[in-house]
Amino acid sequence: MTDKKAQLEKLKEEWTPTEETILKRRSVRLYKKEQVPEFMIKRILEAGRFAPSAGNSQPWKFIVLRDPEVINGLVSTTVKICRLFKAIIDYRIPGKEYLKPLAKLFIRVKPNDLHPTPFGAVSLIADGKLGLWHDAPTIILIFKDVRGVSSPDLDCGIAGQNMVLAAHSMGLGTCWVGFVKLAFQYTGKWKKFFGIGYPYKFASSLAVGWPKGNPDGMVERSTHAVDWYEDGGSKTVI
Ligand SMILES: Cc1cc2nc3c(=O)[nH]c(=O)nc-3n(C[C@H](O)[C@H](O)[C@H](O)COP(=O)(O)O)c2cc1C
Repeated sequence: MTDKKAQLEKLKEEWTPTEETILKRRSVRLYKKEQVPEFMIKRILEAGRFAPSAGNSQPWKFIVLRDPEVINGLVSTTVKICRLFKAIIDYRIPGKEYLKPLAKLFIRVKPNDLHPTPFGAVSLIADGKLGLWHDAPTIILIFKDVRGVSSPDLDCGIAGQNMVLAAHSMGLGTCWVGFVKLAFQYTGKWKKFFGIGYPYKFASSLAVGWPKGNPDGMVERSTHAVDWYEDGGSKTVI
């Protein structure tokens, strides 16, 4: 068998290490207290830095948080805003059904922020039932440079997922956390603290740490039909 043929036969039999990491990575919401060595976080940041971006514009800025006081401060601000949101729009609370029209209006105006999962999660965070960063010892904040070519949010997502996969390939756990956006969107406190202004805007964040137990592993995923055009015809594959 030629090298190429043998390589293809092997591919049919087993996942590559990269595929294994992609397929088995899970969001981790339970972390050990032990801090991640600095060199590992630097390697993870490198994986982000090497991400592709439109026009190679690299429209991102990363901030690493490992100071519990700063992390807790951001959590506290976000929880306060979630409590406010909950009080204003959570019409599911008995006796607060009158809030429904206002909540529906908010959801219509801010569909990505409030519907459907975020709506419930805002209340869970407000009630302390969903940790913001799940007590992870290292946080990576991702800011987009709004001057980036095409779609800076998309580029930041690609850079972030590069970091997530690099972290899991090293045995670490991660979780994307979007809710801290509230602390940057509705207060000036943390933008001032980090010296963040134009052209940077909060994009998302990653919790990083040593997972408790072994949460990684394959799970069922919903299938999404893919239309496939070839040789003058088409088929649908999943
Ligand atoms: C952009 C983004 C934001 C997310 N925000 C949160 C969050 O604030 N809190 C959280 O616990 N999980 C968050 N997640 C994790 C998702 O809930 C998780 O990826 C999804 O349920 C699929 O599970 P899996 O990552 O284990 O495959 C976020 C994921 C992404 C991609």
